[in-house]
Amino acid sequence: MVDSEVVIAGLDIGTNSIRVLVAEYGSDGKLLVSGWGQSRSQGTHRGVVVNIEAAREAISTAIEAAEQEAGRTVTELLVALGGSSISSLNSRGVVAVSGKNREISVADVERVLEAARAVVIPMDRDILHILPQEYIIDDQRGVRNPIDMIGIRLEAEVHIVTASVSVMKNIEKAMERSDYKAQEIVLGTLATARASLSDEEKEMGVLLMDIGTSSTDFISVCGGAPRVTGSVPFGGTQATSDLSVVLKIPMEWAERIKCELGCCWETLIREEENAIVPGIGGRKAISVSASEICRILKPRVTEILMMIKRGIEKSTNMIDINTGIVLAGGGALLPGITDLAESVFGQPARVANPRSSISWPNPCRNTKWSKAAGLILLGDAIADKNMDKVREAQETEIANPLRGLLKWLGEFF
Ligand SMILES: Nc1ncnc2c1ncn2[C@@H]1O[C@H](COP(=O)(O)OP(=O)(O)OP(=O)(O)O)[C@@H](O)[C@H]1O
Ligand SMILES: [Mg+2]
Repeated sequence: MVDSEVVIAGLDIGTNSIRVLVAEYGSDGKLLVSGWGQSRSQGTHRGVVVNIEAAREAISTAIEAAEQEAGRTVTELLVALGGSSISSLNSRGVVAVSGKNREISVADVERVLEAARAVVIPMDRDILHILPQEYIIDDQRGVRNPIDMIGIRLEAEVHIVTASVSVMKNIEKAMERSDYKAQEIVLGTLATARASLSDEEKEMGVLLMDIGTSSTDFISVCGGAPRVTGSVPFGGTQATSDLSVVLKIPMEWAERIKCELGCCWETLIREEENAIVPGIGGRKAISVSASEICRILKPRVTEILMMIKRGIEKSTNMIDINTGIVLAGGGALLPGITDLAESVFGQPARVANPRSSISWPNPCRNTKWSKAAGLILLGDAIADKNMDKVREAQETEIANPLRGLLKWLGEFF
C-alpha cells in the first residue's frame, strides 16, 4: 500500500490542449483521480516551447484547474514528451559476469545497460530512457530478468530514447517560472501504451499510434518491450487544412465540419448528410456532402498511416505486430479510422480509451486523455514498486516513492 500523502500528477503538453491529471491514494490504498485540468496550448508548437511566458501561463492554467478540483497543491509532475524532439535507436551491450559464483547481480545488470548506452549521441541530445528488450546469457536469448541467474557473459538488447536537451530545459523552465517541477520527463507513447494496451497485446506484438494535432507518435511493442518508437510530423490538423484548402473556408470552419461530419471510410456514410458552408466575403453558401468530405479526408489519413507503416517496416518485421493496431489521441475520433487502419496494415484495429483499472473523471474517459492517464498509471506502478523496496529495507520514511522512475520504466510502461 502506498502512503496516502503521495500525490501523482501528470502533464501532457499537446499542440492543441494541455491536460493535467492529479491522483492520490485513499486510506484503503486505492488510487483515486482527484483532479483534472485542461487549457488551450499557447507558446508551444508540436509540444516544444516557443514562447516561455505564454507556455508558462497555459501550463499553469491547466495545473491550477486540476489543483482546484483536487483541493490540494501540486509541486512535481510527470511530463510527457513526444513529437520530433524525440529519436530512438536499438543498441546492445556486453559484459563479463563479475560475481565469484558467476551469479548475475544488480551491479552486472547496471553495467551491461551502461555498456549498451555507449552509442554516439549528438551534443544537443540527452538519453531519456534505456529500455531493456531482452537479456542474453551465454547465447541463451529471451531472458527478461537475469538477476541471480548463472552465466559468464551477459548481453543486453535495449531501446534507447533520446531527446533534445533544449526542448526539455525549456519545458522545465516554463514550469519552474510558476514554481512547478518536472519530476521526470517520460516518452509520451510509453505513457499512452500504459493506458491503452493489454498485457497480451504487449507480449504478442502491437502497434500503437497517438494521432494528435500536428504529429502522430507511434510505438511498436513485442515480447513486453518497445521495439520501435517514432513520430511523423502530421496529424489531425493536416486533414483539417486539406478541407480548408479544397472547400476554400477558414480552418475553424473546416475543423468544425471535420468533427461533426468527417469520416474517412465511405461505406460508413449511410445516408447523405450535408454541411452548409457559408461563403467568404459575401460569396454564396455551398452545400458539401459527407461523401465529398470523406473524399478529401481519406487520402490524407491514409498518407499518415502509410508513413508510419513504412517507418515500422524499415526498422523491424511487420510480423511483430501480431495482435493488431491500437489508435489513440484526438485524431482517432475520426469515424472510419479503424477501417482505414485495418486496410492499410492488414491487421485488426481498435480505438483505446484510458483503461478502467481506476476510475477516471467523466470527461477524461476519452482517448484524448490516454497520455495523461498513462502518466498517472506509470506513477502508480512505480510508487507501488518503490514502496515494496522501502518495506523490504525496513525503512520507515521515503521522501518520494516516485524517485528512480527512469530506472523502472522499461518494466512498467
Ligand atoms: N470528433 C473528432 N473527429 C475527428 N477529429 C477529431 C475529433 N476530435 C478531435 N479531433 C482531432 O484531434 C486532434 C487533436 O487531438 P489531441 O487533443 O489528441 O491533440 P494534442 O494532444 O493537442 O496534439 P499533439 O499530440 O499533436 O501535440 C485535432 O486535430 C482534432 O481535429
Ligand atoms: Mg497529444
